[in-house]
Amino acid sequence: MSHEEFPTDAPAVVTCGLPYANGDLHVGHLRTYVGGDVFSRALETLGQQTAFVSGSDMHGTPVAVNAESEGVSPESFALEWHEIYKETFPKFNVDFDNYGHTHDETNTAITRSIVRTLEQEGYVYEKQIMVAYDPIDDQYLPDRYVEGTCPYCGEHARGDECDEGCQRHLEPGEIEDPISAISGNPAEYRERTHKFFEVSAFSEYLSDFLDGLEGTSNARNQPREWIESGLKDWCITRDMDWGIDYPGADASDESSSDREADGSSDLVLYVWVDAPIEYISSTKQYTDRIGPDVYDWEETWRGDGEIVHVIGRDIIQHHTIFWPAMLRGAGYTEPRAVMASGFVTLGGKGFSTSRNRAVWAEEYLEEGFHPDLLRYYLATNGGFQQDVDFSWEKFRDRVNNELVGTVGNFLYRSLLFAHRNYAGTPDASVSPEVESRIEEAIEAFTAGVNDYSIRDAGNAAVRLASFGNEYIQRNEPWKLTDDDPEQAAQVIFDCVQIAKAIAVLFAPIAPDRCAALWAQLGEDGSVHDVTVDAALVPPARSFDEPEELFEKIPDERVEELNEKLEARVAEATDDDTDDAPGEETETTDTTDMDDIEPLTTDRISFEEFQELDIRVGEIVSAAGIEGADKLAKLEVDIGLETRQIVAGIKQLHDLESLPGTRVVIVANLEKAELFGVESNGMLLAAGEKADILTTHGDAAPGTKIR
Ligand code: MSP
Ligand code: ZN
Repeated sequence: MSHEEFPTDAPAVVTCGLPYANGDLHVGHLRTYVGGDVFSRALETLGQQTAFVSGSDMHGTPVAVNAESEGVSPESFALEWHEIYKETFPKFNVDFDNYGHTHDETNTAITRSIVRTLEQEGYVYEKQIMVAYDPIDDQYLPDRYVEGTCPYCGEHARGDECDEGCQRHLEPGEIEDPISAISGNPAEYRERTHKFFEVSAFSEYLSDFLDGLEGTSNARNQPREWIESGLKDWCITRDMDWGIDYPGADASDESSSDREADGSSDLVLYVWVDAPIEYISSTKQYTDRIGPDVYDWEETWRGDGEIVHVIGRDIIQHHTIFWPAMLRGAGYTEPRAVMASGFVTLGGKGFSTSRNRAVWAEEYLEEGFHPDLLRYYLATNGGFQQDVDFSWEKFRDRVNNELVGTVGNFLYRSLLFAHRNYAGTPDASVSPEVESRIEEAIEAFTAGVNDYSIRDAGNAAVRLASFGNEYIQRNEPWKLTDDDPEQAAQVIFDCVQIAKAIAVLFAPIAPDRCAALWAQLGEDGSVHDVTVDAALVPPARSFDEPEELFEKIPDERVEELNEKLEARVAEATDDDTDDAPGEETETTDTTDMDDIEPLTTDRISFEEFQELDIRVGEIVSAAGIEGADKLAKLEVDIGLETRQIVAGIKQLHDLESLPGTRVVIVANLEKAELFGVESNGMLLAAGEKADILTTHGDAAPGTKIR
């Protein structure tokens, strides 16, 4: 099924993967929330009616295990974190229309009704399975209570997910060599009766669903492989107290004796049943608050709504297999798109909450940086599905070069000129050249949204600013004010129009800074209430003296932040081998630096590969870069030209012996500046020791590698 382009006449909902209410948020989490917020704001800028919702994920073992280690009840533990998250998101201008939680009445009621419908439709059955049990502590060990070996890839895994290896969801009983994550006791398997959801009945449906699913390609490709290898039914109950009780098959308030008879009285629903249902519940709460005439949750979730899920790549399977099967089985609308972000890593390794290997959301704010800077960095640094290795240098470069150098510089110089010479916007109307350039920017923004690329949508404004700089430079209005005042007025009017267009198109990325720009331009109302058309509406006549919108980040700050971070990463890495049971690990952590990283399951197309221009080169010279511990500056002959390339090999190789060595380089990587030295390409090397790639035969420098 192909979808109509945004904006459509149907209501949209953008949802963000719910944070487990179990600990501090880090900038990895923020990729989901900033991504969702940017996308939902961008849809609204296109004129699409949009609700933006999420909530805290209160149940399950991620919460129960952490609450237990703190010695508090899961409910009060989770509620406390919930309150903290509710306060944290607005600090990053992540502005949910509703932020609920999975333990509230709305979600409990909708979850029960959906599970009952699935039962009535015959998609739920009972089965006896083996579940992990700690005989010493006399306790069942669901999900994160148990650790062991992944049966699919052999990596260390916890009960319900292979988070360090193949990222698969694991069913109870699947994990091998189980031990209790709490006590470290070896676990045994015991037989128990559990409820199963018949996901396998939806194979064909899911296959078709994936064909029409929009969003990032990883969200289509990974699940296709899972379907092809045969879908397993899904155990939807757990031996735990904390969670939503498994509902009896009868309508609403069943008595406890019914539940007893049903045999499911001591079972709660698996957290992944009620968690995504919060997307629906949260939307309903929004409607309950503002009225169905403004936004109708039922039209979205039971009608023709445009449902867009924004998540990280670790939870693709839950959102593209289990969740659409549940929605289908219970008669709800299927998602239109899943945007699955790559991970944010540190020093190439996954964030780890327990090892303090992370950049924390609060920490970022405490360092005094404006939230819009991080939003820009997270939203536009690489494609959404690419992993991003967080670095303060890269953060500084993006801020200083693009936000300050391109956007801020254009706005300040043109608006200052306008204010000084015309007390605002001169009398003129937009020139055809600038009008068509702004139209182009609107088109690029619209295409970015329709491609689910927040980076492309964000770059539309930055490119426009870059054009603005070139336009003002080319026309030199400062020389025209006396000789050709009409032309001077024309140029400056055009610049103010460009500034206004930037405010509109950049507002989804930098909501606070663009609201300030809007006010600076003397415009009425809020930039967040206008649509793309406003970019070409003539600007307000008068405005005050402008202020700089973005501030440069001094190099000393980066050094200071890096030192803190490097110390922390080193410490966390040293600790890697003695990871105590019960510690929460995340993402792609490996227990040893030399462990082989798991293969990426996400495939790229041949066309994508061909975009890389990889060449044979020959090192002409190699020298260390002063002040940088690890970096060397290389001159590399690549046949057609000699390239200067910076590579992190200073301590790992004898630089003097390198000239004459055949190497392999990526020639079309974007240029970068490291320690003030430009790097025009990338040297390929393997592993921590930077083993330099070379050719086996004698292919000449410049030969293309394919
Ligand atoms: N509670 C589940 C999601 C339930 S959705 C119905 C969960 N919670 S989480 O707290 O672990 O993650 C919250 C969001 O942050 C998810 O979208 C997850 O993918 C994302 N990320 C968590 N760590 C991340 C990185 N290091 N990098 C990028 N995204 C990350 O999963
Ligand atoms: Zn695995």
